[in-house]
Amino acid sequence: MSAKLWGGRFHGQVSDLMRRFNDSIAFDIRLWEADIRGSIAYAQALARAGVISQQEAEALVRGLEMVRAEFAEGRFQVQPDDEDIHTAVERRLKELVGEVAGKLHTGRSRNDQVATDLRLFALDGLRDIQRALCEVQRALLAQARPHVHTLMPGYTHLQRAQPISFAHWCMGYFWQFARDAERMDDCARRIAIMPLGSGALAGNPFRLDRRFLAQALGFPAVTCNALDGVSARDFVAELLFCWALLGVHLSRLAEDLIVYSSAEFGFVTFDDAYATGSSLMPQKRNPDAMELVRGKAGRLIGDLISVLVVLKGLPTSYNKDLQEDKPPLFDALDTLALALPVVAGAVRSLKVNVARMRAALDPAMLATDVAEYLVRKGVPFRQAHHLTGRAVALAEARGVPLNALPLADWQAISPHFEADVLGVFDFERSLASRDVVGGTSPRAVRAQIRQAERWLKKRQCPADE
Ligand code: ARG
Repeated sequence: MSAKLWGGRFHGQVSDLMRRFNDSIAFDIRLWEADIRGSIAYAQALARAGVISQQEAEALVRGLEMVRAEFAEGRFQVQPDDEDIHTAVERRLKELVGEVAGKLHTGRSRNDQVATDLRLFALDGLRDIQRALCEVQRALLAQARPHVHTLMPGYTHLQRAQPISFAHWCMGYFWQFARDAERMDDCARRIAIMPLGSGALAGNPFRLDRRFLAQALGFPAVTCNALDGVSARDFVAELLFCWALLGVHLSRLAEDLIVYSSAEFGFVTFDDAYATGSSLMPQKRNPDAMELVRGKAGRLIGDLISVLVVLKGLPTSYNKDLQEDKPPLFDALDTLALALPVVAGAVRSLKVNVARMRAALDPAMLATDVAEYLVRKGVPFRQAHHLTGRAVALAEARGVPLNALPLADWQAISPHFEADVLGVFDFERSLASRDVVGGTSPRAVRAQIRQAERWLKKRQCPADE
């Protein structure tokens, strides 16, 4: 007789090749904790429905606790016939408590079981990633605080655009990550819906109290349709989207820091803990950590695409293709669980080269301020832009910085330019003038930092100090 859980209607043995192809224990063993949690609640729900006796439920729970301890202590032995985590747990349970183990699966299918396990697992993973992301945000905030007055060129098209503070740059990333965290909150609401009690596809025939079951497992809601309950994996796709997008944001941060750490920029220096050398060129100090972060974004996007492609074209309810939902989910979780602390550490320990940032400022970056000067004198902006452009061209033709253009030249371009135009060439003043909510002025950035601190506090991830 086949040792398989589903072996009854089979005469022959499954080939070794098929076994290797079909088995998922190698990766879904990670669901052990969720699987046992689900089974303990299920045993209690079966007793509540009168399907098994209270003593039987207690025996099952006791046995499941023993299996849990074996996993927790690394003592669990996977056997060759353990097809997946669900069969492995049940097999071991039977060895520990005997025939009563055969009652646990009453009315349950691995279809509603695995969907439930995966949702429990995904919720835990989501919280872990949110916690790790919080550390990245705290690191950005810690860098922002002392650099509200640290001037650097702000770029568009990677061309010097306008002066900003380094704190302004830090906070720009803080808010991207805040949205990523909130996006995960929203996703969690849709993950936290319990499919258990859906059976294979048609529902449970034993008057199971699904709401009781959901409560026991910490799910605020139950799925509304058993077919949908066993086949839905949009929660996986959605979570992988949240993580892919987070990966993209991390990648952009990494790219900035790679550029800023180059000798050409020299704005920041990575701590030795997050830099690496070259095996050939002794002088090299490579930003491998950030390059890997940038590379991992590709992997996270790939994980999302894998799941979307698996789902596309699947007929209703459970199909074995769905077993392929797990490797990408696990991979994305592991990737971020490692990348986020690296980013947090690298950002926190980053040395900011204030003088190099300052030296990269060019008076031409205040051309917009010159145009704004004219606007304050009543010149329409379009015209002011044009006149300032002529001054820039003239300075270029004369080979001098914009602020070295003599007053006569300014006045030849427009009589609206008066002696005080040279007062525009003050980077601090330019910064201070952008004092709107969200602007780069020290006051506005300080307000932003306070807002960020409140945001973190509300999420029980308080900023340092
Ligand atoms: N290992 C399977 C998976 O991960 C469990 C569900 C199996 N269900 C089935 N009807 N064969 O999807």
